[in-house]
Amino acid sequence: MTARPGDMDSAAIDRAAGVLRGGGLVAFPTETVYGLGANAADGAAVARVFQVKGRPPSHPLIVHLGGAGQLGDWVEEVPATARLLAERFWPGPLTLVLRRGRRVPLEATGGLETVAVRVPAHPVALALLAAFGGGIAAPSANRFGSVSPTTAGHVRAELGDAVDVVLDGGPCQVGVESTIVDATGEALSILRPGGVTREDLEAALGRQLAVPVTSHVRVPGQHPSHYAPRARVVLVAPEKVVAEAELAQESGHRVGVLLPPAFADTEVKAHAVVAVPASIPAYARGLYAFLRELDQRGCDLIIASPPAEQGLGTAIANRLRRAAGPRPAA
Ligand code: TXA
Ligand code: MG
Repeated sequence: MTARPGDMDSAAIDRAAGVLRGGGLVAFPTETVYGLGANAADGAAVARVFQVKGRPPSHPLIVHLGGAGQLGDWVEEVPATARLLAERFWPGPLTLVLRRGRRVPLEATGGLETVAVRVPAHPVALALLAAFGGGIAAPSANRFGSVSPTTAGHVRAELGDAVDVVLDGGPCQVGVESTIVDATGEALSILRPGGVTREDLEAALGRQLAVPVTSHVRVPGQHPSHYAPRARVVLVAPEKVVAEAELAQESGHRVGVLLPPAFADTEVKAHAVVAVPASIPAYARGLYAFLRELDQRGCDLIIASPPAEQGLGTAIANRLRRAAGPRPAA
Protein backbone atom coordinates (compact mmCIF):
# COMPACT_ATOMS: atom_id res chain seq x y z
CA MET A 1 0.00 0.00 0.00
CA THR A 2 1.39 3.38 -1.01
CA ALA A 3 -0.06 6.81 -0.27
CA ARG A 4 1.19 9.74 -2.37
CA PRO A 5 1.41 13.39 -1.30
CA GLY A 6 -1.50 14.39 -3.55
CA ASP A 7 -3.90 11.96 -1.92
CA MET A 8 -2.39 12.08 1.58
CA ASP A 9 -5.82 12.46 3.13
CA SER A 10 -6.56 11.66 6.71
CA ALA A 11 -7.86 8.23 5.63
CA ALA A 12 -4.38 7.21 4.39
CA ILE A 13 -2.82 8.48 7.62
CA ASP A 14 -5.46 6.66 9.70
CA ARG A 15 -4.83 3.42 7.82
CA ALA A 16 -1.10 3.77 8.47
CA ALA A 17 -1.75 4.43 12.17
CA GLY A 18 -3.88 1.26 12.21
CA VAL A 19 -1.01 -0.72 10.70
CA LEU A 20 1.26 0.54 13.51
CA ARG A 21 -1.32 -0.46 16.13
CA GLY A 22 -1.46 -3.94 14.59
CA GLY A 23 2.30 -4.38 14.94
CA GLY A 24 3.09 -3.55 11.30
CA LEU A 25 5.78 -1.37 9.75
CA VAL A 26 5.16 2.04 8.15
CA ALA A 27 7.81 3.93 6.18
CA PHE A 28 7.18 7.65 6.51
CA PRO A 29 8.83 10.92 5.49
CA THR A 30 10.60 13.17 7.95
CA GLU A 31 12.36 16.43 7.14
CA THR A 32 15.73 14.60 7.35
CA VAL A 33 15.33 11.15 5.72
CA TYR A 34 12.56 8.53 5.48
CA GLY A 35 12.05 6.45 8.61
CA LEU A 36 11.00 2.79 8.98
CA GLY A 37 8.49 3.04 11.81
CA ALA A 38 7.03 0.61 14.35
CA ASN A 39 5.02 1.09 17.55
CA ALA A 40 7.82 1.95 19.99
CA ALA A 41 5.96 0.33 22.88
CA ASP A 42 5.66 -3.02 21.04
CA GLY A 43 8.89 -5.01 21.42
CA ALA A 44 7.89 -7.55 18.74
CA ALA A 45 7.11 -4.82 16.18
CA VAL A 46 10.42 -3.12 16.97
CA ALA A 47 12.21 -6.45 16.52
CA ARG A 48 10.75 -6.66 12.98
CA VAL A 49 12.38 -3.33 12.13
CA PHE A 50 15.79 -4.80 12.97
CA GLN A 51 15.02 -7.88 10.90
CA VAL A 52 13.91 -5.90 7.82
CA LYS A 53 16.92 -3.57 8.04
CA GLY A 54 19.38 -6.39 8.72
CA ARG A 55 20.57 -4.30 11.65
CA PRO A 56 22.37 -5.81 14.67
CA PRO A 57 20.03 -5.70 17.70
CA SER A 58 22.57 -3.72 19.74
CA HIS A 59 22.05 -0.59 17.58
CA PRO A 60 19.32 1.49 19.24
CA LEU A 61 16.51 3.30 17.38
CA ILE A 62 15.17 6.84 17.72
CA VAL A 63 11.70 7.14 19.27
CA HIS A 64 9.69 9.79 17.36
CA LEU A 65 7.11 11.75 19.32
CA GLY A 66 4.29 14.09 18.32
CA GLY A 67 5.41 16.76 20.79
CA ALA A 68 7.68 17.47 23.75
CA GLY A 69 4.62 17.02 26.00
CA GLN A 70 4.97 13.23 25.49
CA LEU A 71 8.55 13.11 26.78
CA GLY A 72 7.44 12.06 30.25
CA ASP A 73 6.11 8.76 28.82
CA TRP A 74 9.53 7.78 27.46
CA VAL A 75 12.28 9.26 29.58
CA GLU A 76 13.12 9.12 33.26
CA GLU A 77 13.87 12.82 33.62
CA VAL A 78 14.30 15.88 31.41
CA PRO A 79 17.27 17.99 32.52
CA ALA A 80 16.84 21.76 32.13
CA THR A 81 19.23 22.02 29.17
CA ALA A 82 17.45 19.21 27.34
CA ARG A 83 14.15 21.03 27.87
CA LEU A 84 15.67 24.23 26.50
CA LEU A 85 16.90 22.45 23.36
CA ALA A 86 13.56 20.70 22.86
CA GLU A 87 11.72 24.02 23.09
CA ARG A 88 14.11 25.71 20.71
CA PHE A 89 14.54 22.98 18.04
CA TRP A 90 11.40 20.76 18.04
CA PRO A 91 9.80 19.94 15.78
CA GLY A 92 13.09 19.63 13.91
CA PRO A 93 16.23 17.63 13.11
CA LEU A 94 17.53 17.26 16.67
CA THR A 95 17.61 13.97 18.60
CA LEU A 96 18.15 14.02 22.37
CA VAL A 97 19.63 11.04 24.22
CA LEU A 98 18.09 10.92 27.71
CA ARG A 99 17.67 8.40 30.52
CA ARG A 100 15.28 5.66 29.47
CA GLY A 101 11.81 5.59 30.98
CA ARG A 102 10.54 2.25 32.30
CA ARG A 103 8.02 1.59 29.52
CA VAL A 104 10.58 1.78 26.72
CA PRO A 105 11.14 -1.77 25.48
CA LEU A 106 14.78 -2.89 25.56
CA GLU A 107 14.45 -3.83 21.87
CA ALA A 108 14.26 -0.11 21.02
CA THR A 109 17.32 0.92 23.00
CA GLY A 110 19.59 -2.02 22.23
CA GLY A 111 19.66 -2.76 25.94
CA LEU A 112 20.99 0.71 26.87
CA GLU A 113 19.76 2.67 29.89
CA THR A 114 19.28 5.69 27.64
CA VAL A 115 16.80 6.40 24.85
CA ALA A 116 17.02 8.68 21.81
CA VAL A 117 13.94 10.85 21.17
CA ARG A 118 12.93 13.47 18.63
CA VAL A 119 9.91 15.36 17.28
CA PRO A 120 10.20 15.44 13.46
CA ALA A 121 9.14 18.53 11.48
CA HIS A 122 7.50 16.90 8.44
CA PRO A 123 3.70 17.44 8.25
CA VAL A 124 3.07 13.80 7.23
CA ALA A 125 5.19 12.50 10.15
CA LEU A 126 3.36 14.79 12.58
CA ALA A 127 -0.05 13.76 11.18
CA LEU A 128 0.92 10.08 11.56
CA LEU A 129 2.16 10.63 15.12
CA ALA A 130 -1.05 12.51 16.01
CA ALA A 131 -3.28 9.78 14.52
CA PHE A 132 -1.27 7.01 16.19
CA GLY A 133 -0.99 8.77 19.53
CA GLY A 134 2.09 6.90 20.78
CA GLY A 135 5.81 6.92 20.03
CA ILE A 136 7.13 5.57 16.73
CA ALA A 137 10.54 3.86 16.85
CA ALA A 138 12.20 4.45 13.50
CA PRO A 139 15.65 4.13 12.03
CA SER A 140 16.34 5.41 8.53
CA ALA A 141 14.41 3.20 6.05
CA ASN A 142 17.43 1.59 4.38
CA ARG A 143 19.30 -1.65 4.82
CA PHE A 144 21.96 -1.59 7.51
CA GLY A 145 25.08 0.32 6.47
CA SER A 146 23.75 1.66 3.18
CA VAL A 147 22.68 5.11 2.01
CA SER A 148 19.63 6.63 3.74
CA PRO A 149 16.50 7.19 1.61
CA THR A 150 15.32 10.73 0.88
CA THR A 151 12.37 9.80 -1.36
CA ALA A 152 9.58 7.20 -1.13
CA GLY A 153 11.01 5.71 -4.34
CA HIS A 154 14.32 5.03 -2.57
CA VAL A 155 12.43 3.18 0.20
CA ARG A 156 10.43 1.05 -2.23
CA ALA A 157 13.52 0.23 -4.28
CA GLU A 158 15.44 -0.90 -1.20
CA LEU A 159 12.85 -2.44 1.13
CA GLY A 160 9.96 -3.19 -1.25
CA ASP A 161 7.39 -5.59 0.15
CA ALA A 162 9.09 -5.90 3.54
CA VAL A 163 7.25 -2.70 4.55
CA ASP A 164 3.46 -2.73 5.05
CA VAL A 165 2.90 0.92 4.06
CA VAL A 166 5.07 3.59 2.42
CA LEU A 167 3.75 7.12 2.97
CA ASP A 168 5.06 9.36 0.18
CA GLY A 169 5.68 12.90 1.43
CA GLY A 170 7.95 13.97 -1.44
CA PRO A 171 11.71 14.51 -1.21
CA CYS A 172 13.11 15.28 2.27
CA GLN A 173 13.99 18.94 2.76
CA VAL A 174 17.07 18.55 5.01
CA GLY A 175 18.50 15.40 3.41
CA VAL A 176 20.91 14.30 6.16
CA GLU A 177 19.87 12.72 9.47
CA SER A 178 19.17 14.54 12.71
CA THR A 179 21.91 15.81 15.00
CA ILE A 180 22.18 13.49 18.02
CA VAL A 181 23.05 15.15 21.34
CA ASP A 182 23.83 13.33 24.56
CA ALA A 183 21.65 15.35 26.94
CA THR A 184 21.70 12.94 29.89
CA GLY A 185 23.72 15.44 31.93
CA GLU A 186 24.48 19.14 31.81
CA ALA A 187 27.74 18.60 29.86
CA LEU A 188 26.20 18.06 26.44
CA SER A 189 28.04 16.54 23.51
CA ILE A 190 27.25 15.88 19.87
CA LEU A 191 27.18 12.15 19.10
CA ARG A 192 26.33 12.60 15.40
CA PRO A 193 26.41 15.86 13.42
CA GLY A 194 23.21 16.48 11.45
CA GLY A 195 20.47 18.89 10.46
CA VAL A 196 20.84 21.20 13.47
CA THR A 197 24.33 22.69 13.40
CA ARG A 198 26.80 22.95 16.26
CA GLU A 199 26.66 26.73 15.76
CA ASP A 200 22.84 26.70 16.23
CA LEU A 201 23.15 24.58 19.39
CA GLU A 202 25.87 26.76 20.88
CA ALA A 203 23.89 29.94 20.12
CA ALA A 204 20.83 28.46 21.89
CA LEU A 205 22.89 27.33 24.90
CA GLY A 206 25.10 30.42 25.09
CA ARG A 207 28.18 28.21 25.50
CA GLN A 208 30.45 25.91 23.54
CA LEU A 209 29.98 22.17 23.21
CA ALA A 210 32.71 19.59 23.64
CA VAL A 211 34.76 19.00 20.46
CA PRO A 212 35.28 16.32 19.29
CA VAL A 213 32.87 13.67 20.58
CA THR A 214 33.66 13.13 24.27
CA SER A 215 30.64 11.37 25.63
CA HIS A 216 30.40 8.79 28.36
CA VAL A 217 27.43 7.39 26.46
CA ARG A 218 28.20 4.32 24.39
CA VAL A 219 27.45 5.07 20.74
CA PRO A 220 26.43 1.92 18.96
CA GLY A 221 25.84 1.99 15.23
CA GLN A 222 28.85 4.23 14.69
CA HIS A 223 30.78 1.77 12.53
CA PRO A 224 33.56 3.24 10.40
CA SER A 225 31.64 2.24 7.26
CA HIS A 226 28.07 3.48 7.15
CA TYR A 227 25.92 5.58 4.80
CA ALA A 228 27.82 3.76 2.05
CA PRO A 229 26.89 3.32 -1.62
CA ARG A 230 27.93 0.09 -3.40
CA ALA A 231 30.81 1.88 -5.13
CA ARG A 232 33.98 2.44 -3.13
CA VAL A 233 34.30 6.08 -2.04
CA VAL A 234 37.63 7.92 -2.05
CA LEU A 235 37.96 11.45 -0.64
CA VAL A 236 40.61 13.89 -1.86
CA ALA A 237 41.23 17.66 -1.67
CA PRO A 238 38.89 19.64 -3.98
CA GLU A 239 41.67 20.64 -6.38
CA LYS A 240 42.66 16.96 -6.80
CA VAL A 241 39.20 15.57 -7.63
CA VAL A 242 39.46 15.95 -11.42
CA ALA A 243 43.01 14.56 -11.74
CA GLU A 244 42.34 11.61 -9.38
CA ALA A 245 39.10 10.77 -11.18
CA GLU A 246 40.75 10.77 -14.62
CA LEU A 247 43.67 8.69 -13.39
CA ALA A 248 41.34 6.06 -11.91
CA GLN A 249 39.16 6.08 -15.04
CA GLU A 250 42.25 5.53 -17.23
CA SER A 251 43.32 2.63 -15.05
CA GLY A 252 40.04 0.83 -15.78
CA HIS A 253 37.62 1.97 -13.07
CA ARG A 254 34.11 3.19 -13.80
CA VAL A 255 34.53 6.44 -11.93
CA GLY A 256 31.73 8.56 -10.54
CA VAL A 257 32.61 12.11 -9.54
CA LEU A 258 31.01 14.46 -7.04
CA LEU A 259 32.44 17.58 -8.66
CA PRO A 260 33.08 20.45 -6.21
CA PRO A 261 31.37 23.77 -7.11
CA ALA A 262 34.69 25.54 -7.81
CA PHE A 263 35.28 23.08 -10.71
CA ALA A 264 31.71 23.02 -12.06
CA ASP A 265 32.87 24.17 -15.51
CA THR A 266 35.69 21.63 -15.80
CA GLU A 267 35.32 18.84 -18.33
CA VAL A 268 36.03 15.50 -16.56
CA LYS A 269 36.82 12.26 -18.36
CA ALA A 270 34.94 9.91 -16.05
CA HIS A 271 32.03 7.45 -16.24
CA ALA A 272 29.50 9.74 -14.49
CA VAL A 273 29.72 13.25 -13.07
CA VAL A 274 27.39 14.97 -10.61
CA ALA A 275 28.10 18.68 -10.12
CA VAL A 276 27.64 19.37 -6.43
CA PRO A 277 25.42 22.40 -5.63
CA ALA A 278 27.30 25.46 -4.34
CA SER A 279 24.64 25.91 -1.65
CA ILE A 280 25.42 23.69 1.34
CA PRO A 281 21.74 23.08 2.26
CA ALA A 282 21.12 22.04 -1.36
CA TYR A 283 24.16 19.71 -1.21
CA ALA A 284 22.83 18.12 2.00
CA ARG A 285 19.36 17.74 0.43
CA GLY A 286 20.85 15.99 -2.61
CA LEU A 287 23.77 14.05 -1.10
CA TYR A 288 22.17 10.61 -0.75
CA ALA A 289 20.36 10.85 -4.09
CA PHE A 290 23.70 11.71 -5.77
CA LEU A 291 25.38 8.64 -4.23
CA ARG A 292 22.46 6.44 -5.28
CA GLU A 293 22.58 7.87 -8.82
CA LEU A 294 26.30 7.08 -9.19
CA ASP A 295 25.60 3.53 -8.00
CA GLN A 296 22.75 3.20 -10.46
CA ARG A 297 24.90 4.40 -13.33
CA GLY A 298 27.26 1.50 -12.62
CA CYS A 299 30.19 3.33 -11.04
CA ASP A 300 32.59 1.17 -9.00
CA LEU A 301 34.55 4.10 -7.57
CA ILE A 302 33.35 7.52 -6.40
CA ILE A 303 35.80 10.41 -6.06
CA ALA A 304 34.59 13.29 -3.87
CA SER A 305 35.83 16.05 -1.61
CA PRO A 306 34.22 16.80 1.76
CA PRO A 307 33.02 20.40 2.18
CA ALA A 308 34.44 22.66 4.91
CA GLU A 309 33.43 21.51 8.40
CA GLN A 310 31.18 24.36 9.39
CA GLY A 311 27.43 24.62 9.67
CA LEU A 312 25.62 21.87 7.77
CA GLY A 313 28.89 21.14 5.92
CA THR A 314 30.01 19.20 9.03
CA ALA A 315 27.20 16.65 8.60
CA ILE A 316 27.92 16.24 4.87
CA ALA A 317 31.65 15.75 5.54
CA ASN A 318 30.83 13.23 8.31
CA ARG A 319 28.61 11.14 5.99
CA LEU A 320 31.19 11.21 3.18
CA ARG A 321 33.95 10.11 5.59
CA ARG A 322 31.78 7.28 6.86
CA ALA A 323 30.88 6.28 3.29
CA ALA A 324 34.63 6.18 2.57
CA GLY A 325 35.39 4.17 5.73
CA PRO A 326 36.81 0.64 5.63
CA ARG A 327 34.17 -1.92 4.63
CA PRO A 328 33.63 -5.26 6.32
CA ALA A 329 35.20 -8.09 4.30
CA ALA A 330 32.65 -9.43 1.80
O1 TXA B 1 17.05 11.97 11.12
C1 TXA B 1 17.08 10.91 11.75
O2 TXA B 1 17.59 10.82 12.88
C2 TXA B 1 16.43 9.70 11.09
C3 TXA B 1 14.93 9.95 10.95
C4 TXA B 1 14.18 8.76 10.45
O3 TXA B 1 14.41 10.40 12.18
N1 TXA B 1 16.68 8.51 11.86
C5 TXA B 1 17.90 7.91 11.93
O4 TXA B 1 17.89 6.74 12.64
O5 TXA B 1 18.89 8.37 11.41
P1 TXA B 1 19.08 5.67 12.58
O6 TXA B 1 18.56 4.48 13.29
O7 TXA B 1 19.50 5.46 11.18
O8 TXA B 1 20.20 6.33 13.43
C6 TXA B 1 19.98 6.48 14.81
C7 TXA B 1 21.27 6.48 15.55
C8 TXA B 1 21.86 5.10 15.84
O9 TXA B 1 22.74 4.68 14.86
C9 TXA B 1 22.62 5.34 17.16
O10 TXA B 1 23.95 5.71 16.86
C10 TXA B 1 21.92 6.55 17.75
O11 TXA B 1 20.95 6.97 16.85
N2 TXA B 1 21.26 6.22 19.01
C11 TXA B 1 20.00 5.78 19.21
N3 TXA B 1 19.75 5.58 20.52
C12 TXA B 1 20.87 5.92 21.16
C13 TXA B 1 21.25 5.94 22.54
N4 TXA B 1 20.41 5.57 23.49
N5 TXA B 1 22.50 6.35 22.84
C14 TXA B 1 23.36 6.74 21.87
N6 TXA B 1 23.06 6.74 20.54
C15 TXA B 1 21.84 6.33 20.20
MG1 MG C 1 20.56 5.10 9.50
